[in-house]
Amino acid sequence: MNNPIVLITGGGSGLGFEIAKLFALDNYSLILVGRNVENLESAQKELKQKYQVDVEIISADLTDYQAVSSIFPRLKERGIQVDILVNNAGFGLLGDFINLDGNQQLEIIDLNIRALTSITYHFLQQASVGAKILNISSMAAFQPGPGMSVYYATKAFVSSFSEALSEELVKQKITVTSVCPGPIDTNFWKVSRSGREKVADTTAFASLKPSFVAKSAYRGFEKGRRVVVPGVLNKLLVLIVKIIPRSLVLKAVRHLNSRI
Ligand SMILES: NC(=O)c1ccc[n+]([C@@H]2O[C@H](COP(=O)([O-])OP(=O)(O)OC[C@H]3O[C@@H](n4cnc5c(N)ncnc54)[C@H](OP(=O)(O)O)[C@@H]3O)[C@@H](O)[C@H]2O)c1
Repeated sequence: MNNPIVLITGGGSGLGFEIAKLFALDNYSLILVGRNVENLESAQKELKQKYQVDVEIISADLTDYQAVSSIFPRLKERGIQVDILVNNAGFGLLGDFINLDGNQQLEIIDLNIRALTSITYHFLQQASVGAKILNISSMAAFQPGPGMSVYYATKAFVSSFSEALSEELVKQKITVTSVCPGPIDTNFWKVSRSGREKVADTTAFASLKPSFVAKSAYRGFEKGRRVVVPGVLNKLLVLIVKIIPRSLVLKAVRHLNSRI
């Protein structure tokens, strides 16, 4: 791996794969992490063929703490230093907290918070001046999310953690960008058990293509922006949420999440 190296969690599919394509286009060597080996291998094949870049895959369940904490030590053993980290893997569950499976809700925290924090820590131990982090948060970070409460809270963590780190790392010239997309047309909604393949009609007005979100994220990341909200309508929604009473926001989000 001769070129600068980027490690992308969840890089084998969805938004992560679209982001991987943009890095490949700019000649980065890639390390894609995920559980689904078939997806990872097919992403690896496509990226190698189309962009002639080095692509490694690591099959790991990032809710497994041992698996998470072994990624960077293993790379170090092989003399591989990662220049850019993209924390993209994440999932959520739709439904009321009290009705959903307790352990599955803890897995959201394991992946969206614990794995992201651990991988970031290990990345920074080996990072050089000028390294970069791209964290995929969500518009869910801007308000609580009745009907998907744990997921929203994890994304509030991702955004808060990312912004704090970006300030702490100014001296080291390491940028941290958190991207806060609204609904994207990916497998996310199937995983969240909405029982639908696509974003539901109630949110389709704001749904964006993963390739569009990836480009917007990549542009903001290249400029070293702290926060990126892809899409004009979503930027507007973020502003509205800041000015209307929290009680109304809670009711609106509950309504939306119950309709998906
Ligand atoms: N879709 C949306 O509407 C939306 C909106 C805002 C933010 N986001 C955020 O965008 C990010 C990407 O989501 P997406 O929309 O691309 O959803 P997706 O299509 O479901 O992709 C999720 C990715 O995360 C990986 N992943 C999930 N669980 C994992 C685990 N336990 N260990 C390792 N990898 C795991 C998956 O790979 P494997 O299956 O191979 O493990 C997959 O590549 C997430 O952080 C999500 O919260 C999504």
